Amino acid sequence: MAKSILALENLVISYGGIEAVKGVSLSVNEGELISLIGSNGAGKTTTLKAIAGLLKPKSGKIFFQDSLSSGHCHELVQRGMALVPEGRGVFSRMTVIENLQMGAYLRKDDQIAEDMEKMFQYFPRIKERAGQLAGTLSGGEQQMLAIARALMSQPTLLLLDEPTMGLSPIMVETIFDVIRQVSKQGMTILLVEQNAKVALTISDRAYVMESGEMTMEGTGEDLGKDPRIQEAYLGA
Ligand SMILES: Nc1ncnc2c1ncn2[C@@H]1O[C@H](COP(=O)(O)OP(=O)(O)OP(=O)(O)O)[C@@H](O)[C@H]1O
Ligand SMILES: [Mg+2]
Repeated sequence: MAKSILALENLVISYGGIEAVKGVSLSVNEGELISLIGSNGAGKTTTLKAIAGLLKPKSGKIFFQDSLSSGHCHELVQRGMALVPEGRGVFSRMTVIENLQMGAYLRKDDQIAEDMEKMFQYFPRIKERAGQLAGTLSGGEQQMLAIARALMSQPTLLLLDEPTMGLSPIMVETIFDVIRQVSKQGMTILLVEQNAKVALTISDRAYVMESGEMTMEGTGEDLGKDPRIQEAYLGA
């Protein structure tokens, strides 16, 4: 049996009187790369925020590594959850290096310097800017740094919210390449992505969210072939 890292059961989340997530269930097992796709306003970010303890669900359950989630962001981080939020998730007044060190601040091992080198191999662009303040990096560079910082924490579960949004094709390719590599090395990842085509290609399984509900689930391959997905997300 695969080990469960994350399970959502009937999650309901509302903003005031408006239900943004209406009873969503989802599971992520150890080592899986799972995509969550869906159009704007479907409730993807809301779902990720609840998983990370940034929003309190109205009802439903969230299990993280087999125990009921406390819903406290700090505790979840300590237990190995890392969220790369939508948009820029860096400390802008710290340098690139300092951002990466912050990512590793809970680690007690002696591999931190090696891992930093690894990040620079993944993202040579940020190596060239190691001493620069993160706030002065381009949007794409900040996004790469945000991902690298999350990886520096060696998370048990990596949550990525639209990591390629608004980036040039080359940067998109670099980021997907790194996601693929860390996934191959065994990292457990839940990826929210607008770029359904690539997301489905690299994912083990994917979920489709529409207006707050989970409407489809399947292997990336099967969903990619589904006419409904092709019409709605793949421009066929
Ligand atoms: N802070 C908020 N207050 C009120 N409503 C909100 C808030 N944040 C999100 N919503 C609403 O909840 C719904 C889901 O939003 P959410 O950001 O989760 O969607 P999404 O799937 O991430 O969309 P996108 O692809 O555009 O990022 C939307 O209708 C949105 O308007
Ligand atoms: Mg979103």
